[in-house]
Amino acid sequence: MQKPWAGRFKESTAPFIEEFTESISFDWQLAKFDILQSMAHVRTLERALVLTPEESNTLLTGLERLLKKLEDGSLVPDKSLEDVHMNIETALTREIGQLGKKLHTARSRNDQVVCDLRLFLKEELSNIINELKLLRQRLVLLAKEHINTIAPSYTHLQHAQPIRLSHYFLAFREAFLSDTIRFINAYKSSDVLALGSGAVAGVDFALDRFYTASLLGFNKVSKNSIQATSDRDFVLDALYACAVCGMHLSRMAEDMIIWSSQEFNLLELPDRLCTGSSIMPQKKNPDVLELIRGKTSRLYANLLSVFVLLKGLPTAYNRDLQEDKEPLFDSLKTTLDCIRALNLSLEGAKFNVNRLYELSQDLSVMTDLANYLVKKGISFRDAHEIVGNLCAKVIDSGISIKDISLSMLKTLSEQFEEDALELLNPQKCADARIAFGSTGISVLERAIENAMREEGIS
Ligand code: ARG
Repeated sequence: MQKPWAGRFKESTAPFIEEFTESISFDWQLAKFDILQSMAHVRTLERALVLTPEESNTLLTGLERLLKKLEDGSLVPDKSLEDVHMNIETALTREIGQLGKKLHTARSRNDQVVCDLRLFLKEELSNIINELKLLRQRLVLLAKEHINTIAPSYTHLQHAQPIRLSHYFLAFREAFLSDTIRFINAYKSSDVLALGSGAVAGVDFALDRFYTASLLGFNKVSKNSIQATSDRDFVLDALYACAVCGMHLSRMAEDMIIWSSQEFNLLELPDRLCTGSSIMPQKKNPDVLELIRGKTSRLYANLLSVFVLLKGLPTAYNRDLQEDKEPLFDSLKTTLDCIRALNLSLEGAKFNVNRLYELSQDLSVMTDLANYLVKKGISFRDAHEIVGNLCAKVIDSGISIKDISLSMLKTLSEQFEEDALELLNPQKCADARIAFGSTGISVLERAIENAMREEGIS
């Protein structure tokens, strides 16, 4: 196939170099957006009197036919045509004849590729934002369901202080909310029209770029053609949002992996989300969660890969920029899939409510006992020491927290009274935490109510 740029060349491209330089094997994903931007471009050319209304009509009809063919699968890319832009233009000329060659007036692939990518990103980021909302809704519903589940919280993976399990779910809801804000910001930085910048210096036709922007639904128009064609900050913004979100997904997945182990036994995953071992008949492995954790590494790598790609580029467009696409496509798909996978895992997980309660009945209530003494006028440091001695006694004698008696407490401090024993109850301990943002029931109930309203759950 003759290349659209072949005019100044005396020999055809070497076959290996064709393979080496092509991007059609991955940028065909942009085909729909390449057609849509071409339609807006035609209408802008007509408005600028570069195309007659008849020409514009024929071009638009041809592009509409291509869109239909793309949808029904009959428009397929031609490998020898390098990239999606050449493919769509050539397909149009095949569809409507020589007039198709006018499509590329006042346009370069350098502004074209940015325009496609920005349109594509806006759609993909919207999908991720929607999927994240479903995940947050799931977490809020779990928080509501588990308002009466008392559980240990961990720091250093050691029992720390008792909580209501709702507090844990709402913690991740907060994390995914901050991810959502990052994705919305990434959406905003994508929401800029670059078309009409040409190869680098702008275009020598009086294109109304604001009209193009309104046709394509862009909120802003780029202000400098050099920056418009060389800028990939919007790609970095999306990749960064994916990387941070992946980190959150991975951390929750890691918790669930540990919690589902025999030693923890705090949750059971449904069979439909687990796989077995080819050798050990008894195995049921949490592969889905492990893959969420594993795939997060690509999200970091993709961000780093584009960072490195950009740092030494001479301004403005360089072919290196073609390498932004695969990491971006991969991160967007991986993030969307991982959000779905975590949501399914949470949907199917059965939390072992009784065991969570049992485990929280331990020394993790001791901070409260120390504070009891503080309220009686003892300094926190001394109280810490006294209660530390109690812990050592309990551990050495192997008794349970339920067996701690008032006389035992009295041997450590005369300040202990009957009401100190009530603090050994983990639920009391959790509910004593009443400051905004804490796990106490009064605060949590309000937090859940607010979250339900914010997430549109009735
Ligand atoms: N496939 C190229 C890319 O993704 C399209 C732009 C090519 N422009 C050029 N002047 N060679 O970046």
